[in-house]
Amino acid sequence: MSEQWTLGFVGAGVMAETMISGVLSRGSIPPERVVASDPNPARRDELSRRHGLRMTANNREVAEAADLLVLAVKPQNLSEVFRDLTGHIKPTSQVLSIVAGASLSALRRGLEHHQVARAMPNLPCRVHRGMTVWAGAEGEGAARVREVLMGMGEQIHVEHESDVDRATAVNGTGPAIVAEFVKAMFEAATYLGQPRELAHETVLATLLGTAEMIRRSDVHVAQLIDEVTSPGGTTSRALQVLKEGRFSAVVTGSFDAAYQRTLELGQGLERKLSDE
Ligand SMILES: NC(=O)c1ccc[n+]([C@@H]2O[C@H](COP(=O)([O-])OP(=O)(O)OC[C@H]3O[C@@H](n4cnc5c(N)ncnc54)[C@H](OP(=O)(O)O)[C@@H]3O)[C@@H](O)[C@H]2O)c1
Repeated sequence: MSEQWTLGFVGAGVMAETMISGVLSRGSIPPERVVASDPNPARRDELSRRHGLRMTANNREVAEAADLLVLAVKPQNLSEVFRDLTGHIKPTSQVLSIVAGASLSALRRGLEHHQVARAMPNLPCRVHRGMTVWAGAEGEGAARVREVLMGMGEQIHVEHESDVDRATAVNGTGPAIVAEFVKAMFEAATYLGQPRELAHETVLATLLGTAEMIRRSDVHVAQLIDEVTSPGGTTSRALQVLKEGRFSAVVTGSFDAAYQRTLELGQGLERKLSDE
């Protein structure tokens, strides 16, 4: 990717700015090769001041300039974006959508453009520790998509689009579920009388340390749990309470609810786009 190329964003909200700051901080592309559109003049001023980008109110201007065109609008704004962009995307351009629920076929149909990829980033992307699962794209287009996504943390390309739908539930919803668990741990530590600051530090260090240990281990997580559980000990008592509360079943149920909702939203969006 030595030659000059242009990165464009349609919609310059939270996620677009996260992607822009990530890719600029990697030095993959200079700010003068990034262009973004947004209807809000204050937002345009803010982003051009903060990152030195070219900002415009005109979506077509972005489509006509971009070699990698990122769609970063809310699902409800997608049909108006299709109307603006159709016929104006460079034939060689790679499109990347981060719009939750928008399938590759709906995007290809709506944009009348074949080279389309679809990604599901997550909240920790905001601190460049995110996980993005994505599908579609090949060759140079895929290399550019990967470069932009790497600015937000880790990225994994999957062969089947259905894995992006599953990722919407797992890594998309995951941060809220983990945060809920962290909140419960803070409350539990406070209940035991641990000072708040100490609870804050110990809970987060335990969480990050455990995740890192599991990542580095080559044995199944169940074996790691077994290793720290001595018969009649403290961990054994704690795990018994989780089992009685159907902890695993509740977590599975909540991921499954998120997955079913992802499918519902995708089907709803598909219906809306084909009615228009
Ligand atoms: N936030 C996350 O953690 C996350 C994670 C994964 C995926 N996503 C997906 O990323 C997409 C963007 O989310 P976000 O959180 O960045 O939303 P956001 O902050 O609301 O950004 C969307 C931006 O698009 C602008 N916009 C609205 N209509 C437009 C149009 N017709 N043309 C061009 N720009 C337009 C909005 O302007 P106004 O505000 O003035 O309307 C806003 O600045 C969503 O589809 C979401 O599903 C988000």
